[in-house]
Amino acid sequence: MNDSNNNNDHKLNESLDDLSFDEYDELMNPTSETTDFDRVVEASLTRRDLLKSVVVFGSIAALGGFNALSNEARAASSRIGFSPIDADTTDGISLPAGYKSHVVARWGDPLWSGVPEFDHATRGTALSQSKAFGDNIDGMEAFAVGDKTVLLVNNEYSNRKVIWGNRPEGKPTTDDDINKIKMAHGLTAVEISETDGQWSIVKDSPYNRRVTPDTPTVLTGPAAGHDLMKTAADPTGTTSLGTFNNCGNGSTPWGTYLACEENFNGYFSAEDEDHKVSPELKRYGVSSKDRGYQFAKVDERFDVAKHPNEANRLGFVVEVDPRQPDAMPKKRTALGRFKHENAEVVVNGDGRIVVYMGDDERGEFLYRYVSNGLYAVGGETDSLMEDGRLYVAKFHDNGAGEWLELTPESTGLSSMAEVCIHTRIGASAVGATTMDRPEWVASNPNAAEVYCALTNNKNRGIKPNPGGDPTPVGGPNPRAENQYGQIVRWRPNGGDHSSNGFAWDLFVIAGNPALHSDARGGSSNVDAGNMFNSPDGLKFDDNGILWIQTDGNYSNEKDFAGHGNNQMLASDPATGEIKRFLVGPNECEITGLTWSSDKRTMFVGVQHPGERGGSHWPDGGDSVPRSAVLAIQREDGGKVA
Ligand code: FEO
Ligand code: CA
Ligand code: CA
Ligand code: CA
Repeated sequence: MNDSNNNNDHKLNESLDDLSFDEYDELMNPTSETTDFDRVVEASLTRRDLLKSVVVFGSIAALGGFNALSNEARAASSRIGFSPIDADTTDGISLPAGYKSHVVARWGDPLWSGVPEFDHATRGTALSQSKAFGDNIDGMEAFAVGDKTVLLVNNEYSNRKVIWGNRPEGKPTTDDDINKIKMAHGLTAVEISETDGQWSIVKDSPYNRRVTPDTPTVLTGPAAGHDLMKTAADPTGTTSLGTFNNCGNGSTPWGTYLACEENFNGYFSAEDEDHKVSPELKRYGVSSKDRGYQFAKVDERFDVAKHPNEANRLGFVVEVDPRQPDAMPKKRTALGRFKHENAEVVVNGDGRIVVYMGDDERGEFLYRYVSNGLYAVGGETDSLMEDGRLYVAKFHDNGAGEWLELTPESTGLSSMAEVCIHTRIGASAVGATTMDRPEWVASNPNAAEVYCALTNNKNRGIKPNPGGDPTPVGGPNPRAENQYGQIVRWRPNGGDHSSNGFAWDLFVIAGNPALHSDARGGSSNVDAGNMFNSPDGLKFDDNGILWIQTDGNYSNEKDFAGHGNNQMLASDPATGEIKRFLVGPNECEITGLTWSSDKRTMFVGVQHPGERGGSHWPDGGDSVPRSAVLAIQREDGGKVA
């Protein structure tokens, strides 16, 4: 979604339809204002103070050291092999010289023969949408299955004003309209193939699949079968219908896909709008007031007054096997329940699986899971994400940090099942560090070093999180009312991802150095030529280049003047260098990144172009804007990673 940084008064005057998920949550569940003037004043650092405060990894030249290089030395030593591009606000794709792109798949493209092409006048029907590529693509991964390429893509949500743009005021008029938007959610598995350099959908492939909010899934791990998971539809509490609002993704060494359920709360409501939801559900923003999707009108399980446990069955990491298109997706409750962004899987030196995960809401936490079992190629993998330990991060101001284990004893919750259901409550109980909206986590393939995008947090230093935990300025969250975001990184002690200690610093602090000379100018590896806001997607390529995707304010004015449309940049962890690679069409975010197995094509997601009516990308003319997967290639046919 667009996380615009306008003030609340302005937001209150806007239609609910224009609010992002997190803005809506705040409107529904306002927390008390607890402005701490001392802390806000304390945060009024100069840019120089800020830089001093964040340089922790002395051996790394990312911040202070980077500026010491001359431009010539920088160019000569750069590992990023393209000429960076300017910011822009054009309704198209901008790339460096020597690169080209084409669209592989768009919202509404049929996956099977006989399914009608996308109809720009009607935006299709529930039936056509259920057999076509879903909307608002987010995390994605390309898998080599034999000699085939199968792309798994999250379809995070759908823009109501776009999919219902054929209806008065963009509101549904029939049950089929509501079922259509429901079918636009979930995920899409699709075989794609390349002919003469052009990638396209392989219709009728046995690997093509839609997973929707109605697809049966299996619950695994500590929460499976617990009373809080039992519903009228499934009194055993071991299965769950569907998955939706999957944001970022992960993949496992054994070749499966991880879809991560994020803002699941926004789909529940109650016929009785005075119904009071439980404090446990309220912590996740579940409300009796409909957010606009109206799922409960066509499917009673979304009525939280009648079926309160339905919402307990969402907020998980979901494992999907691209090789078994008929297998039920598995919800991995051992990885905790929160607004999952992505799931970065690392094989630790001793063979244990470590999964790093962010909870994307203002003032929520960063988590780590460590399996008890060991991964071996060709060995049993089903238990690796069922049986393990869950931790939450605490950052100290001195550059050290620790992982705090979440157990019944440490949290006061009654069982591991409850820890895996009320994970946020457990993390608050152990005193974890409230973060500036943790988005994607990415692990450096060349070093025991992990990065997390902290996208922005206008409440930093202003308001507690939804659990009432304070959000003091400091540590990895150094700026009050943080409108630009930053990327934190940490190194586990001894290079051991299962160690409970780590050292951290800030890799980049986004800002606008053309306008601001205080902390809002950002770190020294940000300049007028590469500035951006709201880092969100993060992924390393095989060369150890960290790609940064943005989901921020695209107004290109005031504090965001010069930032242009949302974009993708390449950065070098060793030097801190950052270069802009791609700028997307109007009102989109750039999210989702994967490569063909020969690395000659990079696939990039363009989500919600025209979310406010200002784009006709990719089809042009008067067409309906459509989320799409781009293929990006070098004109000389070389590798893109
Ligand atoms: Fe769906 Fe946190 O972005
Ligand atoms: Ca999004
Ligand atoms: Ca995101
Ligand atoms: Ca975001």
